[in-house]
Amino acid sequence: MEENQEKVVAMPRIGDPAPAFKAITTQGDINFPADYKGDWVILFSHPADFTPVCTSEFMTFATMEEKFAKANCKLVGLSIDGLYSHIAWLRTIKEKIEYKGMKDVEVNFPLIEDITMDVATMYGMIQPGESSTKAVRAVFFIDPKGMIRAIIYYPLSLGRNFDELYRALIAMKAADEFGIATPADWRPGDDVIMGPAGSCGAAKDRMDGKEEELDCKDWFFCTKKLDKDKVLKAILKK
Ligand code: BEZ
Repeated sequence: MEENQEKVVAMPRIGDPAPAFKAITTQGDINFPADYKGDWVILFSHPADFTPVCTSEFMTFATMEEKFAKANCKLVGLSIDGLYSHIAWLRTIKEKIEYKGMKDVEVNFPLIEDITMDVATMYGMIQPGESSTKAVRAVFFIDPKGMIRAIIYYPLSLGRNFDELYRALIAMKAADEFGIATPADWRPGDDVIMGPAGSCGAAKDRMDGKEEELDCKDWFFCTKKLDKDKVLKAILKK
């Protein structure tokens, strides 16, 4: 390759199977995504161990791990640091860091060591315009069949909103379960969106009020009620 010529890396896309890899983690070896078949999994990267924004993120995510587990979703972290750095950082978090009422926080989900950057490169987590020595804050939502369903990227300086990650997970599970879509800022209990009418006849029927459960603002914009308890019962473990 000529000097100054940037290597082009194909990044995984929504709808692709999650690229497979084996890795060493703080919870032992993993075979990804095979070990997670049947569960949702969030694979996320952070720039570096022993950095403050990442520390605030890990404390927040670890505190919410059980909530994600109830939604049948496991968490897997990654940075291009080594295993002993990961172990030392997670020990420091538990022993010394108190932040926003969180303390004594134990990170029980696996954190991948990726000093070779193999996994980070495969998942497009190294974005040289931002940094060529640190992963950006990437989030991959992978469904129980091992397919990538959503991807979010944040720059190094911006800590993620973990309530939004949970909201996105629940919304995708509701969409799968009930064959609906979810509008802006949707949360369980809010009205959901029906796909647009697929024919002139269906559009007319909708506007003539033939689908009684629908509330149509126009032929292409119809909502319907979806009971909060029904949603939660369908997508959360008991
Ligand atoms: C942080 O996690 O604090 C951080 C990491 C890399 C660059 C900037 C901030």
